[in-house]
Amino acid sequence: MPAAEQQGHALQALDEEFALFLEEQPSYARTEVIDDLRAREYTRLDAQGHVYLDYTGGGLYAESQLRWHTSLLKNRVLGNPHSLNPTSAAMTRLAEEARRKVLVFFNASPDEYVVIFTPNASGALKLIGEAYPFSEGDHFLLTFDNHNSVNGIREYARARGVATTYVPLVLPETRVDEKELLCMLDELPVDSANGLFAYPAQSNFSGVQHPLEWIEAAQQHGWDVILDAAAFVATNRLDLGRWKPDFVPVSFYKMFGYPTGVGCLLARRDALAKLKRPWFAGGTITVASVQGDKHYLHDSEAAFEDGTLNYLSLPAVEIGLDHLTSVGLEVIHERVRCLTAWLLGRLHDLRHGNGRPVLHIYGPIDTHMRGGTVTMNFYDPDSQFFDHRVVEEEAARDTISLRTGCFCNPGGGELTLGISESELETCFAQPQQRLTLDDFRHCIDGKSTGAVRVSFGIASNFADAYRFVEFASTFTDRQVCA
Ligand SMILES: Cc1ncc(COP(=O)(O)O)c(C=O)c1O
Repeated sequence: MPAAEQQGHALQALDEEFALFLEEQPSYARTEVIDDLRAREYTRLDAQGHVYLDYTGGGLYAESQLRWHTSLLKNRVLGNPHSLNPTSAAMTRLAEEARRKVLVFFNASPDEYVVIFTPNASGALKLIGEAYPFSEGDHFLLTFDNHNSVNGIREYARARGVATTYVPLVLPETRVDEKELLCMLDELPVDSANGLFAYPAQSNFSGVQHPLEWIEAAQQHGWDVILDAAAFVATNRLDLGRWKPDFVPVSFYKMFGYPTGVGCLLARRDALAKLKRPWFAGGTITVASVQGDKHYLHDSEAAFEDGTLNYLSLPAVEIGLDHLTSVGLEVIHERVRCLTAWLLGRLHDLRHGNGRPVLHIYGPIDTHMRGGTVTMNFYDPDSQFFDHRVVEEEAARDTISLRTGCFCNPGGGELTLGISESELETCFAQPQQRLTLDDFRHCIDGKSTGAVRVSFGIASNFADAYRFVEFASTFTDRQVCA
């Protein structure tokens, strides 16, 4: 068939499927502004034929965000903040305005919360880990599906003799058994000085959204709560007027694509006062003396911002937040929900000729309490898995950007891929100092050590979801090569 005719058929099939989709998800029609937005602000996606499905990896910026930011940089003379000279004072004002905007965006009262700018969410988490006043008898409790930048806090706990406990997840939905969690929260001894409880508002592995009600439940039992919002806030409203976690790490590039290199820790003032910084740096002190061997830290966010901030990027944070606000987080949320519902349904229904599923989806297969992150593996008709790296390579040939591996979320991976504690013990018992990913793969023989993840965001449309389903369909009745 000539190429033009083939393209005509493909477009017709897409239109027909879109009409069916609208019947299934009528509220999608109310998110039409995003189609206009995509045509205006994200032109590069369709001009270059990209199917971008990695919003949980990184959001995409609108062209106007760049224009506003470069125009500001071009027209202003901005110096290193925190001095009285005019260019420094101008930059200080812009930095403080960005800080204020972050509070407003999350509906956080400045009397209750501070914004500490960091390089990313991991930087925010490290600030907590290194400064949390862990001491023997304290507890660090976290769900199985945390990102490694949360898991890493256990090393600070371990160094101070503090036990780490993981809250298990229950298959197939990969949610926490709430009764079990409440029992674990109840176990914080009354005489224990500190308990730190961490969980993701949305798992970057499975898309599961854990209840925000846990924040208050944990606090009532004496825990300080880290709500990892990094994968949640690009497509969901986090209202800190309603929910009061002690610490909230965020990366701005995940929310609106640009700038990279800036995140923040939103911290409750009273929780922040508990932290004991292990060092001081330029910008964090009121007074430090060489001869007197003393230093005095600032009493709020300034004590946690080491050295010079990525200051020229801070106005771009404000621009990005304005952009999200102008599109409307609720509109983005609804569009992502509709696309996720449709995708889950279509992927779940994909079958080989012998009736076996083409895919195993990890996590919930409906959109109740889950976000727009869908993780899966592909299987052949004999239920042999396709290496996720092969899937990624083939998707790349179709200009589909998706992500494979375990997404820095080993707990989610180990549980869903069926990698047992005893298998891991065997691998980790080997004498070598370093273990490469390939060594690890050899060790976990016969099981997948990763998965394929697609995720929706601010500029997603039906064609993106449709293209992925088309791609996934090419695995029907395909055999894994020996
Ligand atoms: C849930 C979650 N937490 C933390 C992070 C770490 O973010 P960053 O790499 O920007 O520090 C990520 C990144 O993917 C994430 O998804």
